[in-house]
Amino acid sequence: MLKYIIKLFTTKSNSVILGYGEITWAGLRLIINEENLTMTKTTLDNTSYAWKQISENWQTYFFPPSRPSEQEVATYMEWLTEISAGKPGLKALVLGATPELRDALNQLHFTTHAIDINMEMILALNGLVEHKNPEEVLIRANWLDNPLQESYFDVVLGDAVFANVPWEKRKDFYEEIVRLLKPGGYYLSRTFYAPEKRRYENIDDILAAFAKKKASNRTAIELVFELQLFTHDPTDRLGSMEKVRGVMEKIHGTDGFAFDSQDLNQTLEIVWSYWVGDALSKKVWIYPFQKEEEEEYKRYFSTERKFSATDQPYGELTPMYLLKEKD
Ligand SMILES: C[S@@+](CC[C@H](N)C(=O)[O-])C[C@H]1O[C@@H](n2cnc3c(N)ncnc32)[C@H](O)[C@@H]1O
Repeated sequence: MLKYIIKLFTTKSNSVILGYGEITWAGLRLIINEENLTMTKTTLDNTSYAWKQISENWQTYFFPPSRPSEQEVATYMEWLTEISAGKPGLKALVLGATPELRDALNQLHFTTHAIDINMEMILALNGLVEHKNPEEVLIRANWLDNPLQESYFDVVLGDAVFANVPWEKRKDFYEEIVRLLKPGGYYLSRTFYAPEKRRYENIDDILAAFAKKKASNRTAIELVFELQLFTHDPTDRLGSMEKVRGVMEKIHGTDGFAFDSQDLNQTLEIVWSYWVGDALSKKVWIYPFQKEEEEEYKRYFSTERKFSATDQPYGELTPMYLLKEKD
């Protein structure tokens, strides 16, 4: 399984042997695994590799709900504190390279691992981790095809990860999380749901609401999510950038956007130039209904806690769960 081992940022020699591979250098440890998964309508390209293009601009354009809000970070900290009380050094695996989760784990003295399919994301997000831990292990591999040892982790964490896994692969993904967890281990999840009932009647209502918001990159990502939800199709469950682009093309005139609200025009311009530009034009996210995902959880986990943030506008659609693996 393990095909490559590479060196990065060598500072001084160091050697670490883990249950699933050997890596030799200091400061940063990295395992790379080649995957050869092919998928159908949703492909690794449009669900996962598309993040490559996002990596360079992640810090500029990514805001809640796409990354955890202050309340959500505080909740991760609270749950991790409870889990690790009196047990320093528990092993944790972050699905993705989310800096907020790695900071929380490093502060609480977990042994932190992170697994992400895109080297570009690993490198970009590494620079954003504030609480560095030279013992952190970074793994470049597909969540669904990875070299990690079974029953190794006390905790697995995923901030908005299921939205990147094709619907037909979800069972494999749950089984993979359970395989990696020690018996009775915890899965901490923040998820993305589509609302059962559309939040707005039509596009004009969405634009009227966003005309009242101050233009910013944060407002722009909220508008992208809102347009994904408006064009969401419950049969394929996709929130798609192609559909967002379709909406934007209808309201983009030859001279750009010409609404009365300058804030709205500026927000639309950010969506137009960045979000529906070439880089992200094919990206899709998978948004199920809450009842669908909560039914899935019941098969593998018991729900110990649930939290919906109120410091970002989509907290009800992006709740967090503290899940315990069923015996
Ligand atoms: C965790 S998700 C959602 C965004 C998240 N809230 C964050 O702050 O990073 C995004 C990350 O998942 C990674 N990813 C997507 N699909 C993957 C897969 N099949 N295997 C491993 N990593 C994947 C992407 O490269 C990206 O870095």
